[in-house]
Amino acid sequence: MPDTKYAIVTGAASGLGRALSLELAKRGWVIALCDLNDEGSAETLELVRGAGGDGRVEHLDVTQPEEWEKLRDKLTADWPRLDLLVNNAGVGVGGEVGQLSLDDWKWIVDINLWGAIYGVHTMVDWLKANRGSHIVNIASMAAIVSAPSMAPYNVTKAGMLSFSETLFGELMPHGVGVTGVCPAFFPTNIINSGRFASDDQQKTAAKLMSSSKCTAEYVSQRILRAIDRKDLYVFVPRVATFFWRMKRLMPVRVLKMIARRNAEVAGAAVGQ
Ligand SMILES: NC(=O)c1ccc[n+]([C@@H]2O[C@H](COP(=O)([O-])OP(=O)(O)OC[C@H]3O[C@@H](n4cnc5c(N)ncnc54)[C@H](O)[C@@H]3O)[C@@H](O)[C@H]2O)c1
Repeated sequence: MPDTKYAIVTGAASGLGRALSLELAKRGWVIALCDLNDEGSAETLELVRGAGGDGRVEHLDVTQPEEWEKLRDKLTADWPRLDLLVNNAGVGVGGEVGQLSLDDWKWIVDINLWGAIYGVHTMVDWLKANRGSHIVNIASMAAIVSAPSMAPYNVTKAGMLSFSETLFGELMPHGVGVTGVCPAFFPTNIINSGRFASDDQQKTAAKLMSSSKCTAEYVSQRILRAIDRKDLYVFVPRVATFFWRMKRLMPVRVLKMIARRNAEVAGAAVGQ
């Protein structure tokens, strides 16, 4: 079909990657569902087909550049073009600097940041060949508020936002849009797969997540709107926009407020 659109979504087996794939499927997209978890991706594929789209399960470890190259070679052989690359695969790490091992730092930077760098590096020429194509990088509100006990996560997400802003200007002459997405907490599996310096850290993260009213479906709908409008930024829900603005106006005040709130939530979670 000449109007069919083609997307790569990483981390498609769960959470936001699955929800976003379903939103794309409602518009009839064909999606390469990429993840370490093939069983989860196969479930997503069934849901995608049920929602009106189609796709394929592609086993991909985003931290392996040669796996990205294999993926590109397979897809360029089968697809006429690439319309969208979504760098969504991500993990969480919680704990204070010095408590966390360097191995935990390396693990998260490899997945959350290098994964996206490899993805764009490998696919960018293919995207440039298709004016109107788009890249979505999933960052986080963590990129802005720099909450204590989340340094590795914050660093990777600030990197994702900077990467997106840079690509926005770099790819503008090629007609390739870029969106950096900064959601606040919404419930997914990220806490279960994450690494934490202590059970208390994990409890705090779980408490923040379970108190959120935001959903992966809502975040996905906002991302689709941003792709249509070629928006650089998505801050979601509204509180994320508030923090982005406030951080620019009064950064130290916001950082103190976040640190106090973090201590309160941590105290409450430990006392449970
Ligand atoms: N859930 C939140 O509150 C929240 C908030 C802001 C940003 N985010 C971001 O959203 C993105 C999606 O996370 P989620 O919350 O849906 O979590 P999730 O755990 O439900 O999904 C993440 C997916 O990434 C996959 N993955 C992990 N390592 C991988 C690797 N090396 N190669 C390929 N796939 C890999 C996992 O298998 C999983 O399917 C992440 O980048 C996360 O940082 C989440």
